[in-house]
Amino acid sequence: MIAERKPEYFKGAQLKVAVIGCGYVGLPLGLRFAEAGHRVVGFDTDVGKIEKLNAGQSFIGHIPSARIQQYVRSKHFSATGDFSRLAQMDAIVICVPTPLDQRREPDLSFVEQTARSIQPHLQQGQLVVLESTTYPGTTEELVLPILEAGGLRCPPAGGRDADQMATDFFLAFSPEREDPGNKQYGLAQIPKVVGGVNPPSGRAAVALYSQIVARVVPVSSTRAAEMAKLLENIFRCVNIALVNELKILAMRMGIDIWEVIDAAATKPFGFMPFYPGPGLGGHCIPVDPYYLSWKAREFDFATRFIELAGEINTAMPYHVVDSIGSALNERQKALKGSRVLILGVAYKKDVDDLRESPSLKIMQLLSQRGAQVDYNDPYFPRLHKMRHYDFADIQSVDLTPAALSSYDCVVVATDHSSYDYDAIVESSQLLVDTRNSTRRIARHRGKIVLC
Ligand SMILES: NC(=O)c1ccc[n+]([C@@H]2O[C@H](COP(=O)([O-])OP(=O)(O)OC[C@H]3O[C@@H](n4cnc5c(N)ncnc54)[C@H](O)[C@@H]3O)[C@@H](O)[C@H]2O)c1
Repeated sequence: MIAERKPEYFKGAQLKVAVIGCGYVGLPLGLRFAEAGHRVVGFDTDVGKIEKLNAGQSFIGHIPSARIQQYVRSKHFSATGDFSRLAQMDAIVICVPTPLDQRREPDLSFVEQTARSIQPHLQQGQLVVLESTTYPGTTEELVLPILEAGGLRCPPAGGRDADQMATDFFLAFSPEREDPGNKQYGLAQIPKVVGGVNPPSGRAAVALYSQIVARVVPVSSTRAAEMAKLLENIFRCVNIALVNELKILAMRMGIDIWEVIDAAATKPFGFMPFYPGPGLGGHCIPVDPYYLSWKAREFDFATRFIELAGEINTAMPYHVVDSIGSALNERQKALKGSRVLILGVAYKKDVDDLRESPSLKIMQLLSQRGAQVDYNDPYFPRLHKMRHYDFADIQSVDLTPAALSSYDCVVVATDHSSYDYDAIVESSQLLVDTRNSTRRIARHRGKIVLC
């Protein structure tokens, strides 16, 4: 038992930091704590991941194995499935998934299960931080009561009067802003928003994170921190929907929307460019806004922007498939029976992540309409069975000139940097481009259809 631990303790060196959930968020975070000299233990329920991590093997494309090996060797990082070891930790950071369920409602079962795994081992003076994206209220309404079930207390409070209040343990929320594949902003450069259940909890979390990021931004409550993350993602989702809708109008009017966006982006204030595409993908933008819509119903409130953006973005893969059908029609061909090659199944360029990827929806729709569909993706040599799609036994096609020319239509769904767009256009009979990746190609423009 650690009596009277002060929030400032978490400014200290060589803390024992637990990261629960060693995925896209938890693993880089754990390695960053290790880099700052702390002793990190990654907790996970996936035995395969634990074995790989302890053997110094990465399973995320942009995290080199050498980086993991370095900290495993120096004993700054290890992984385990033994949750009783949580009792020895100073800080516990939760990075487990927060998906939507079958009815597109928040599935907080991972967060709840994690809180239940922590509770029997919770110690006085420990700091627990939830990082998983979720609706405002989760930390206090779901996590806190489970953690307090063993008798330790972390009373919710705000304001100056509560500055020096007593708390048995510290509890905070701090959203993750990881942007996989972003070479400009790594974890250490991205400011971190932090909100505590009470002021000492907020200060403890600020102390911890100030060791690994350049700037920590404290807010007055866990709810404000939870809502800040949702605002960021809803902002993206709504703006992408806006530009997707305007693209369809611009096409009908014979205007190049990408030229328009580039022109508008020269305004030095009050405008931020968003780009149209084949639909939303990734673990965050298509999922997170619905956490707020769901919670809003408790307050008799309809989040109309979120619903409208969802409607427009969900329709984009259908728009792509209709455009492919029209382009084939122009060439006296039917979609049914045509051979179509999809370039890029990852949800965005240069990442090895296909969660919620619109490419998968496009492939499914094309197959349902009778097309023979293949794909290429340098990050996915083969596809496997997924929750919503059964693409087992499909392998990435090699992009040889002969292969490209054998397809009635080639579709750029994800604009990976490694693609040689000149060569692709050269060999393709017809190229449908959902990302304007062929903007600099002057030859064979007649083969290219922007959509
Ligand atoms: N991926 C991103 O770019 C990103 C960005 C910002 C925020 N987020 C949010 O971060 C959270 C985690 O996302 P992610 O992309 O890292 O997910 P992920 O699926 O890559 O990783 C989650 C990990 O948690 C493990 N896990 C599941 N249940 C567990 C449990 N009960 N105990 C211990 N481990 C458990 C899984 O095995 C997996 O290794 C989500 O809330 C997500 O919305 C993700």
